[in-house]
Amino acid sequence: MSKTVTARAHTNIALVKYWGKKDDELIIPMNSSLSLTLDHFYTDTTVTFDSQLVADHFTLDGQSTPVSAKITRVIDRVRTLAGITTPARIDSINHVPNMAGLASSASAFAALALAASQAAGLDLSLRDVSRLARRGSGSATRSVYGGFVEWQMGHDDTDSYAVPYLEHPDWDIHVLAVVVNSAPKAISSTAGMKRVVSTSPFYPAWVEQTAKDMVTIKQAITAHDFTQLGETAEANAMKMHALNMAALPPFSYFSPDTIQILDAIAELRRQGYECYATIDAGPNVKILCQAATKDHIINYIQGLLPTSQIYSATVGPGATICE
Ligand code: PMV
Repeated sequence: MSKTVTARAHTNIALVKYWGKKDDELIIPMNSSLSLTLDHFYTDTTVTFDSQLVADHFTLDGQSTPVSAKITRVIDRVRTLAGITTPARIDSINHVPNMAGLASSASAFAALALAASQAAGLDLSLRDVSRLARRGSGSATRSVYGGFVEWQMGHDDTDSYAVPYLEHPDWDIHVLAVVVNSAPKAISSTAGMKRVVSTSPFYPAWVEQTAKDMVTIKQAITAHDFTQLGETAEANAMKMHALNMAALPPFSYFSPDTIQILDAIAELRRQGYECYATIDAGPNVKILCQAATKDHIINYIQGLLPTSQIYSATVGPGATICE
């Protein structure tokens, strides 16, 4: 039996989005992306390679759960690298509030990659853990590091990985996750990406624009320029969602509440409360703001949508082994 290793990884929110794959198997993206790792929301995953097992076994929050193809892809890669065929026991506890509208796949696959590689006796560099996590979920590539993280798209498995851009930003920045709908999304991110890459006439413009947004957002981070950061992140998210609306057949992750929150954010800005929106593959909106205005923004949105749930987060750390 191998050793038992537990790893913890936090989720992240993309400020410049990954939206489109060049390679579906290896998850090589069409564009580089940049995210902020969040505190509070994380996954703890324990892995043991156990020769007593007949097949891989997975539990999520204590419940026996089918082993997904994505999990198998990561574990198979670990076995190949370690030269073993032993089945794995994987136990995951998610501390991402149920349907917080934050991708638990990012924290889940980053934690799995770190725990499984260590349990198999591999001592991978964080770069190689990032490459491994990428095979489970694109956004997990970035959750290996804390703070602001860049996923350099690269060309293939060897050079598509995350690098920390500013790991310990000494910066007042908060993310409010406004949950308006916790139903599972109708179009998965994988299906959405596939459709825009093959049918959206704006796709070439997205690739071009995103390269520019990467430059601008890095300048904003370096300069601690919250306005430039927020404006770039919001514009990038809108460009991603415009791609979807121009696809064939068209689709959108927005709900009426999404639009209402976008209008509220514009109104808050008019009133002098600086905040910006970003939206992933779902109707929930994440609001970027700073400490001085955070409570006012929460109260304003809560007043507008009394049934919504609002979670508050700030900068989080990279993936670690739990002793
Ligand atoms: O990692 P996935 O396959 O869940 O895709 C994530 C896509 C977005 O969240 C919309 C953008 C991103 O860069 O995280």
